[in-house]
Amino acid sequence: MTTTPRTPYQALGGAETFRRITDRFYDLMESEPEFAELRAMHAPDLTPMRGALASFLGGWAGGPREWFDANPGRCMFSVHGDFPISADTAGQWADAMERAIAEEDIENADLAAQLSERLTTMARGMAKVPA
Ligand code: HEM
Repeated sequence: MTTTPRTPYQALGGAETFRRITDRFYDLMESEPEFAELRAMHAPDLTPMRGALASFLGGWAGGPREWFDANPGRCMFSVHGDFPISADTAGQWADAMERAIAEEDIENADLAAQLSERLTTMARGMAKVPA
């Protein structure tokens, strides 16, 4: 008997999970003073970002590749090439995402911790201007 390995996307709960993490992430960004600097870098209306980030993260974790199909050849680092990301703002992104994932109470805690860790590494790697 053969079994198809589950993707991280499936093991984490699929589209619903990524949508909820993303919504919580932007809710925190909009409401918490500690993320104000990060919030100010974004457009006033975060609605498009709520869709784009959920779609990117889902595809990146092995789910439907809508974001990648709509953005052929675009990498996350080049998407952010024009933004003056400092260690502080990268840290704000990582902290907000870590909280959003933790609050989601994902059943597979090990995988949730890995998700948090990978995204933190990605965000901190985007810092390119002094704090
Ligand atoms: C390191 C700190 C980061 C900062 C300061 C930052 C900031 C931004 C800003 C200002 C935008 C443009 C959105 C707008 O104008 O409203 C954007 C777009 C985006 N960011 Fe980030 N970002 C960071 C890290 C990340 C990471 C780590 C990811 C993914 C894991 C990510 C995913 C995205 C996506 C998917 C878009 C939309 C791209 C598109 O579909 O056009 N960002 N980011």
